[in-house]
Amino acid sequence: MGASGRWDGLRIVLPKGRVLGEALQLLRAARIGVPPEEEDSRRLIIDVGREASGAVGAPLQFILAKPVDVPIYVEDGAADLGIVGKDVLLELERDVYELLDLGIGACRLSVAGLGAPLPPTRSMPRVATKYPRTARRFFAARGEQVEIIALSGSIELAPLLGLAERIVDIVSTGRTLRENGLREFEVIAPITSRLIANRASLRLKADAVGRFQAALAAVV
Ligand code: PRP
Repeated sequence: MGASGRWDGLRIVLPKGRVLGEALQLLRAARIGVPPEEEDSRRLIIDVGREASGAVGAPLQFILAKPVDVPIYVEDGAADLGIVGKDVLLELERDVYELLDLGIGACRLSVAGLGAPLPPTRSMPRVATKYPRTARRFFAARGEQVEIIALSGSIELAPLLGLAERIVDIVSTGRTLRENGLREFEVIAPITSRLIANRASLRLKADAVGRFQAALAAVV
């Protein structure tokens, strides 16, 4: 507890999945206390006491959540800080403060499809994606009318099965596109993971947040 009786620790939401390993490596490189064992564990909440918190010098509580939920916890104040991909931030447009580009989880959000872009056969081409708002904004900005088909994974299937002419999806190594005979037409945005903060936490926990950010900034 702090002098005010309020918990003066930091709660940080980490994204489960692909980027978690890189995020933990970065936290360790920054000398921020992370328990060594939790990569394989199923625990969703991991406490690190003040003594073990390393560079931050305040109790830490790490939360493991689905990447797409990270900005929701942080906007609400359920967590002070979060690590999440720019793709999710672009899509959700939550009211959170972006503190730092962490440089991890590098990939791009791209438009892809089968071979050359198809000559228009329908009045409105269909675009399948996990990023419906970003895709709608992108095509609207260039005055192209498209029908957005929101899917939740394996987006590359859509053009193969004739569900959509194009997709908007994450490309990392490009292997998924290649192995399914798809081509990347254009990059909408380069993506990396960001450190984000709750707006009130920035003021109320300025010291601890500042130390957390500085420790990471020194290693990115
Ligand atoms: C992501 C993305 C692509 C793939 C790209 O999917 O949606 O499918 O990775 O990576 P690559 O360029 O290295 O092949 P993910 O595996 O996260 O799951 P999803 O298909 O369920 O979205």
